[in-house]
Amino acid sequence: MTKDIIALASDHGGLELKTLLKEELIRQGYGVLDLGTDGTASVDYPDYADAMAAALNEGRAARGVLVCGTGIGISIAANRHAHVRAALVHDAFGARLCRQHNDANVIVFGGRTLGVEVAKDCLKIFLETAFEGGRHAARVAKMS
Ligand code: RB5
Repeated sequence: MTKDIIALASDHGGLELKTLLKEELIRQGYGVLDLGTDGTASVDYPDYADAMAAALNEGRAARGVLVCGTGIGISIAANRHAHVRAALVHDAFGARLCRQHNDANVIVFGGRTLGVEVAKDCLKIFLETAFEGGRHAARVAKMS
């Protein structure tokens, strides 16, 4: 079975973790859409959040991964788009619940705050956990 295409984007503060997560996704057989940044030059995280929102809106990827230094700025920017539900995640519990309860379509990490192995574990859980629907569906619907 063909696996989904996962989009990734980061600013300079998230570049290293984004690169490692991209390699991991490829290793697991996912398609990847890398929306940048590609170098260490300082860039503005809202531009990469906007690129992610566009990719999801146009159906170029099923879900997304965003990374900035803390994950905070790029989360705020991404969630300004009504179709984006971006969850800043620090642990496995959050990775699971953001799918089960919030139907998050983007997972966000802090490249300067989270270890790569924890991020890999969270990403795997995020991609393999289904939305529970039911009472959570009405709550999610209220957001958009
Ligand atoms: C960039 O220095 C840094 O501000 C950014 O990566 C992020 O942490 C913002 O929330």
